Amino acid sequence: MNYFEELLAKQMPTEEERKKLAEISSAIQFKINALCKSENINASCIEVGSVSKNTNLKSSDIDMFITFDKTYPVDFIEKKGLEIGHSVLENGTEKYAEHPYVSGYVSGIKVDIVPAFRINAGERIVSTVDRTPLHTVYVNSNTDEKMIHDIRLLKVFLKRINVYGSEIAKSGFSGYLCELLIIHFKSFEEFIKYMASLRGKLIIPEGSDRKFTEPVIIIDPVDPSRNAGAAVSEENLSRLKLASKIYMTKRFDILEHAGENKPGRGTAIRIFTLRKPDIIDDIIYPQAIRLKNRLWDILEDNGFIPIASEISVNDNIEILIECKLEELPGVEIHKGPPVESGEAIKFIDVWNGNPRLMRGPYILNNRVYVDIKAKNRNMEEIIREELKNSDIGKNLNGYKDEIKIITETENMGFDVENRFYSRYLF
Ligand code: CTP
Ligand code: MG
Repeated sequence: MNYFEELLAKQMPTEEERKKLAEISSAIQFKINALCKSENINASCIEVGSVSKNTNLKSSDIDMFITFDKTYPVDFIEKKGLEIGHSVLENGTEKYAEHPYVSGYVSGIKVDIVPAFRINAGERIVSTVDRTPLHTVYVNSNTDEKMIHDIRLLKVFLKRINVYGSEIAKSGFSGYLCELLIIHFKSFEEFIKYMASLRGKLIIPEGSDRKFTEPVIIIDPVDPSRNAGAAVSEENLSRLKLASKIYMTKRFDILEHAGENKPGRGTAIRIFTLRKPDIIDDIIYPQAIRLKNRLWDILEDNGFIPIASEISVNDNIEILIECKLEELPGVEIHKGPPVESGEAIKFIDVWNGNPRLMRGPYILNNRVYVDIKAKNRNMEEIIREELKNSDIGKNLNGYKDEIKIITETENMGFDVENRFYSRYLF
């Protein structure tokens, strides 16, 4: 058994777990269908997601949909969906995707109950989640036992190289994408062989890049207007390409090397943290990236020479930036006009007697220069000052003053090297 088959063996749901999942899902289905019937609502409950396709790994969630007749208004299905969800999941909390839905736990298993419209194959969808039940039908009617095994193997492979999951912070491959890839390539081996020699984008079917521009383009067979691979970042596509090469050459030892993250880099590491507003990740994450870019630009424009950054969004937004310099030099080299220009004398006059002048004016090549005393050399002060006039996103602007700046040494016990600032191949 190779390395990944061994991982899969550990990740396979046990017979006991399968039975438990089946029992929970049919109990929920029964309850919801009875509820809809008693209230005369034209809707029914079906199971979707990986459990419904037998492609789930250990401790996966259960995805249940309530599919309403298309003639109901959206606010009706949203209201009813939440009501039914809460009545089935006692401690359920409300979450938001296309519609609000209820998420909770039954006997330790996470269950989502999501409202959608009932759509037949080929019909126009009303909301994007409406196609999910069609995914289950498509996958179940296009896979056999070997392919089901290979889908699970692919999920394990992608998890191991850290590219599984289509949520924005992961930007990797969704479970459905794994299913589509195995259906297209027929087997795990064929897919990996293809990836090991792929140059450029992953495009299925050929020619689909006329309609989409992302690095991974995989047309959703149940809705050709959608790129099911839109979430995958270029970096994660690169990870998959390299991991596939490693797989083809059987160099599994490369995977075992955790990579080195030695301390003592002699750089200035700062972690900027602020409380995450209670808003979904799809909205907050892009703003956190924008804040990171803004901080980077401030540090770059002021001469701190940023060289690396990391971001983490949990209860807090944490942005790490590593710079070459801890503080700016006491002097700024200030380039003046060419000696031939009409501005040369003006430049000399401006700086003559100025208290900030430290050296000069002098000539380098064909220009006049002065060295002047730096206004502010402190990173924190410069950042705070510049942030005042920066737009860091609709939902973050109000939190600007709360940004804490942590320096590495102040922050002993914060496992910077391992939790936050580690660079591994995968
Ligand atoms: N889905 C989708 N596109 C996504 C995420 C989800 O189309 N980016 C649909 C798929 O039909 C998927 C279902 O929503 O089967 C449930 O989503 P999720 O639970 O995230 O994925 P699973 O396929 O169930 O995979 P996992 O085993 O990771 O739970
Ligand atoms: Mg799932």
